[in-house]
Amino acid sequence: MTQPALPFSWPYPAWIAHRGAGKLAPENTLAAFRMGADHGFAMFECDVKLSADGEPFLLHDAELDRTTNGQGVAGLLSWDQLSRLDAGSWHSRAYAGEPLLRLESLSRWLQALGLMVNLEIKPSLGEEAKTGKVVAQRVAKWWAQSEVKPLLSSFSTEALDAARLAQPELPRALLLDRWVADAPEMAQELGCVAVVVNHAHLDELRIATLHAAGFKVLTYTVNDGSRASELWMAGLDGLITDKVDQFEPQARLGVNPARWVAAVVPSPGEAPPSQTSLDDWLADPEPSIGAAVPDSVMGSGPDSVHTQPAVRATV
Ligand code: G3P
Ligand code: MG
Repeated sequence: MTQPALPFSWPYPAWIAHRGAGKLAPENTLAAFRMGADHGFAMFECDVKLSADGEPFLLHDAELDRTTNGQGVAGLLSWDQLSRLDAGSWHSRAYAGEPLLRLESLSRWLQALGLMVNLEIKPSLGEEAKTGKVVAQRVAKWWAQSEVKPLLSSFSTEALDAARLAQPELPRALLLDRWVADAPEMAQELGCVAVVVNHAHLDELRIATLHAAGFKVLTYTVNDGSRASELWMAGLDGLITDKVDQFEPQARLGVNPARWVAAVVPSPGEAPPSQTSLDDWLADPEPSIGAAVPDSVMGSGPDSVHTQPAVRATV
């Protein structure tokens, strides 16, 4: 049975900008990452696939049509061909001519600024194992000097398994677009440290189930404040959002805001934070923003150091 590359100290912030910050600027381009960083985000999610000549680059869709001025399957073009496309005009005039982004270029930009990333391995059809392997190998090389490595995630278990075989030391997360009862066993089998679940299929019990099995729990894509509050109250570890402007004050804290409120906002009789107190704070976070972040808020207590998941895969 696979042994995960654990124990693993979880180094990532709670707030993660989706596709760079792919609503206010063209998704998966450097312009989007700059936008997210300007709004205080220290971590980004983005989608990585391979060009026909094996260059890892960022694009969400299998085809070029929606987010570039090219057409057809992206993975059939060489990086030289892809690098000449316009990936910004579809969004707005302000971004006309914005190029597609190579993972190598992104790695330099992120490390220059001390920022973190969740690389979603998004293979072209039939390229699952190759993409997982190549992305993991390049990440090991391009982030060799960085203490905090990218978190690799994928819906493709084949890609995750190939990444594990190529570079077992890199942290991995299983992506789920719906809940499956054997999620902990699947994540264990793939040696993952986290599970990233579509928020429409996540609740307190499922978060607790994954925590009990030793995994961190992240979710995508939450753009609604009260839904975010519910999930923070339920103990969520990381939230992927498009709303980098709306969530800027909280993203600048970097931590689960429910833990922050519990630690720094006085409550009568030391009561635990309620949804109301959290919503009140989210509506007006400024008064406590300047307060020092207590150590107790920085991790999730004992589980901030990730230990071997308790679940054993059934084989
Ligand atoms: O990685 C989380 C999320 O990005 C997965 O969905 O379609 O936006 O890549 P999608
Ligand atoms: Mg994605």
